[in-house]
Amino acid sequence: MEEGRISVIAPLLRAFGSLLKATMPENLPRKHRGAIRRGRGRLELDPTALDAVWAQQTQKGKGLIGGDPGRRPHWKHPQPPEPAPWYRHGQSSPQHRQRLLAFLTAAPLEVEIGAGDGRFITAWARQHPQRHFFAFEVRWKYAHRLFERAQQLGLENLWVSDNDARVVLPEVFPDESVEVFHILMPDPWWKPKHQAKRLIAPWFVEVLARKLRPGGILRVETDVEGYPEFVHAVVAQVAAFSPHDPTLASRFANAPLTTRQLWCREHAIPIYRLFFRKQ
Ligand SMILES: C[S@@+](CC[C@H](N)C(=O)[O-])C[C@H]1O[C@@H](n2cnc3c(N)ncnc32)[C@H](O)[C@@H]1O
Repeated sequence: MEEGRISVIAPLLRAFGSLLKATMPENLPRKHRGAIRRGRGRLELDPTALDAVWAQQTQKGKGLIGGDPGRRPHWKHPQPPEPAPWYRHGQSSPQHRQRLLAFLTAAPLEVEIGAGDGRFITAWARQHPQRHFFAFEVRWKYAHRLFERAQQLGLENLWVSDNDARVVLPEVFPDESVEVFHILMPDPWWKPKHQAKRLIAPWFVEVLARKLRPGGILRVETDVEGYPEFVHAVVAQVAAFSPHDPTLASRFANAPLTTRQLWCREHAIPIYRLFFRKQ
């Protein structure tokens, strides 16, 4: 390459490098930099468009994570034998579903959707033995880990499901049965073709509103920049919710961190916390 050209390109590359560096948290190790989910895709902010994507994808049988349980009679992964506090739609017996219903209505109920390895929900359930908890985690490996953790701790107030919450909540949970929904560090699903997988979508936030008791809380936390604005925009479409109320944070001041939140704290990545009350 000619010398003149190199002298133009080199400063440009240097400027680009410093810009990249300036947008990274200071002490983030190089190996984790790829995990900063920032501006990698387009966040669809139009709730109507999101609902349309969902309708289109589910018609093609694609919107649900792990597929539609109704169309999936043979699971590869085993589930703990009944009466273990584990629910799998279409596979748990009618008697077991009755046990679950009794559990859901016997004490104030909190539900976590996308619980990962259960670091938060198991510790939270332990802190609140008089309350009941239900954790959804669609990845079997993590759901299983969560379940094992709960068993080791001897928790009797926590049930687990490896189904997509978007199937089980509308079909199984009674209306106005939930006091708190925790959605902590949800996947943003950037790519347009994946947006039907998002938990925060108008139709599903409507479901959450229906399942919450009056005065119940939707708690959403994320480290993804731009996502809080998206959550505000979607929840604002659902009349049952009041706008974000930061004073509700005190109720969760002692809440244990999730695994992702712990990682964010170690690397000084800010977490945005949002709380919406059902009127
Ligand atoms: C980014 S991870 C966060 C896990 C955990 N909350 C944490 O902060 O470490 C999001 C999790 O939500 C789960 N998930 C996403 N959509 C779900 C759904 N519809 N039902 C149940 N789990 C879901 C995914 O499998 C994934 O483990």
